[in-house]
Amino acid sequence: LSKSRKDRLGDARPFSDFLTDTFHRQHDYLRISVTERCNLRCVYCMPEEGVPLSPSKSLLTTPEIVMLSSLFVSQGVTKIRLTGGEPTVRRDIVPLMQQIGSLRAHGLRELCLTTNGLSLHRKLDAMVEAGLTGVNLSLDTLDPWQFQLMTRRAGFSAVQKTIDRILELNRAGAFIKLKINCVVMRGLNDREILPFVELTRDKDIEVRFIEYMPFDGNKWSKGKMFSYQEMLDVIRSRYPDLERSVGHKNDTSKTYQVPGFVGKLGFITSMTHNFCATCNRLRITSDGNLKVCLFGNAEVSVRDILRKVNQGEPIDQEAFEALRQAAADRTGVLPRGYPPQLIAANYEELLKVIG
Ligand code: GTP
Ligand code: 5AD
Ligand code: SF4
Repeated sequence: LSKSRKDRLGDARPFSDFLTDTFHRQHDYLRISVTERCNLRCVYCMPEEGVPLSPSKSLLTTPEIVMLSSLFVSQGVTKIRLTGGEPTVRRDIVPLMQQIGSLRAHGLRELCLTTNGLSLHRKLDAMVEAGLTGVNLSLDTLDPWQFQLMTRRAGFSAVQKTIDRILELNRAGAFIKLKINCVVMRGLNDREILPFVELTRDKDIEVRFIEYMPFDGNKWSKGKMFSYQEMLDVIRSRYPDLERSVGHKNDTSKTYQVPGFVGKLGFITSMTHNFCATCNRLRITSDGNLKVCLFGNAEVSVRDILRKVNQGEPIDQEAFEALRQAAADRTGVLPRGYPPQLIAANYEELLKVIG
């Protein structure tokens, strides 16, 4: 592999107020959902029959995604994460990444993917060439049978192949930051916390344990939530010297490490401790809505703004102004944090407060 991670990173760029919200949070990290579709049916995310899909005309096209990425990078975004659904099921995901990857000449420093890893191993090398710098891989179990239970599909060995290939590329000098996202559910996979910790003994992986969150349609059951504190207790019972380590300032997770282990541990505690005050993320949904908060409903259609100008043409001043306004108008809904006990106690109430 010819390119080192450093070669694939561009220079840092100054911020514009385009990206600063009413609470002075600077949003230099853009998450773009490139599809609603997924090839798994994780129990906490989707019903067996999948989610209703938007008509294809309403979805962002590749030139539109590239144009938006380019606009946001020109304004100071330095990190773009492609998400889904499952981003690898988008047919032209590799060409799309090649085009977004070329923005590193204009200030993009990180191009990341959140994926279930099921079919990534086939596309990985091309993506790394395109400029991929990080993979967050969703994997909730290390047991093939449990995998089938939790995702309602077979495929554990394919995910394993993806992990192996990433580690192999890294040994050859690629430096793809690999994180494993593990949603912990009581009675389903909470017994696997320690085996996941063991993965970090000799592998440069950050395993992040995620508190199960309520979403519309996932038949929320409070009893299945396994809290950060409980996870810590389980891990400390085996590794009493577990240490807190310093993470990045905008991390969604709290970082730890077992002394002597190569990898790290993270905890995404959306249910019991929020991280809104340091949130630097902007989100664009697959149908082109700009969203400021995962929990908020306020959205503005950047797709409609874009479609007012000729597709493929450079954004004219008028469209640029409209987009700038849309991004600048978004208000931080949760600047100093919302009360965690409210979230845990009643998600519907939370939606009323922030919705
Ligand atoms: P990196 O910090 O770049 O590793 O990415 P990330 O952790 O933001 O991304 P990822 O797609 O891996 O998401 C991990 C978890 O964080 C998921 O459970 C998301 O639902 C959750 N998450 C991501 N962004 C937000 C956010 O702004 N607010 C909340 N509450 N959860 C978020
Ligand atoms: N609760 C917690 N995490 C979830 N994810 C998806 N749905 C939920 C939920 N209900 C996680 C996935 C993936 C990440 C982007 O979000 O496991 O790793
Ligand atoms: Fe949802 Fe991700 Fe599972 Fe697909 S892989 S069902 S998007 S959590």
